[in-house]
Amino acid sequence: MNNIRNKNIKGVRALVRCDLNVPIRNGKVCDDFRIKKFIPTINYLREKEAKIILITHLGQPDGRDLNYSVRPIAKRLWELIQGKVGFINDTIGSKVEREIETMSNGDVLVLENLRFYKEEEQNDNDFSKKLAQLGDIFIQDAFGACHRNHSSIVGINKHIPSFPGLLLEEEIRILSDALVSPERPLVSIIGGFKVSTKIKVIKSLLEKSDYLLLGGKVANSLLLSKGIYVKDFLTEEEEELMDVSNEIELFNPRLQLPADGVMGLVNFDEEYMRVGSIGNIRREEDVFDIGPETIEKYKSILREAKTIIWNGPLGYFEKDKFSKGTEEIAKMIGQMNSEVFSIVGGGETVEAIQKLGIENQFDHISTGGGAMLDFIAGKDLPGIIALEYEN
Ligand code: 3PG
Repeated sequence: MNNIRNKNIKGVRALVRCDLNVPIRNGKVCDDFRIKKFIPTINYLREKEAKIILITHLGQPDGRDLNYSVRPIAKRLWELIQGKVGFINDTIGSKVEREIETMSNGDVLVLENLRFYKEEEQNDNDFSKKLAQLGDIFIQDAFGACHRNHSSIVGINKHIPSFPGLLLEEEIRILSDALVSPERPLVSIIGGFKVSTKIKVIKSLLEKSDYLLLGGKVANSLLLSKGIYVKDFLTEEEEELMDVSNEIELFNPRLQLPADGVMGLVNFDEEYMRVGSIGNIRREEDVFDIGPETIEKYKSILREAKTIIWNGPLGYFEKDKFSKGTEEIAKMIGQMNSEVFSIVGGGETVEAIQKLGIENQFDHISTGGGAMLDFIAGKDLPGIIALEYEN
């Protein structure tokens, strides 16, 4: 892989793919965690006097939908770096090219949402070429999107020299170290709701970890696929997982599943909740959090850990009555700060930790959700592989 530090980039047009896919409400960024993590890269490029052109996706718009404009992100970036950040309401073409021609060294320009062009997700080569025309070099810093086979992730590098950005390098280094030579015991925790992405990594994490603790919908689905009744049907998405689940041995001592849970009603009756054992659940209920016995069991395993990797909340933490499992486990890992190396990733998990105000008690908060999961499962991320391409 090339190293940006070995190149004189003064006056060079640096086209930087970042992942500034952040929540926006009423035209304002409401969580700037990912933007802040990207600032060392931008400051480095400013210091070296490159012309900095930023491209990112935001959400999943259906064509050009201004609710998904990245303008508020440019504004927040301006505040954070305390320096002017330009914005242009297009992503490719002559208007963008003319704007770039007017840039001085050290200037920053944010281009409009890549996904306003359907070609981005289609990995269209012409679109990659048009993007590549905007820069002299390409810097890949969007770790959170490196698991996507999209134009700006795997296409631009075919046309101009490419380099990893500082954030991408940091993510690769920290996550690789934690997996290749972790201090043991290594305890992984997987929770959350995106069952299809998560179940697929269970097998490989089980091989790498001393313990794998499961919670959230991902645990429910696995239990259900094994015939343990936690609700009365599998969704279509979960049914696809039967093959994967067949390969997972439920009685593997390293695999820890909830023994009890906090039940709510499937129709979300606000009042109703009950603590009970898994397998003893009523037809109208679903499990929305891990129960007290499971919390204690998980804590006793975590107490011995030297490395912890966590992706996905253990319950429906947005609702107070189902947030205890996630909060107790988060607080405990935070308190173990000096004895354990802790890595956490995934938007919801990070949100849960921020809600508790304990993000400083974790060693690494990854900017990747799905990308982090694929990486720790040992999958090659297309965006990282693409950087090996020489042109
Ligand atoms: C993320 O939020 O995980 C990344 O930005 C990727 O977004 P996507 O799932 O919409 O591709």
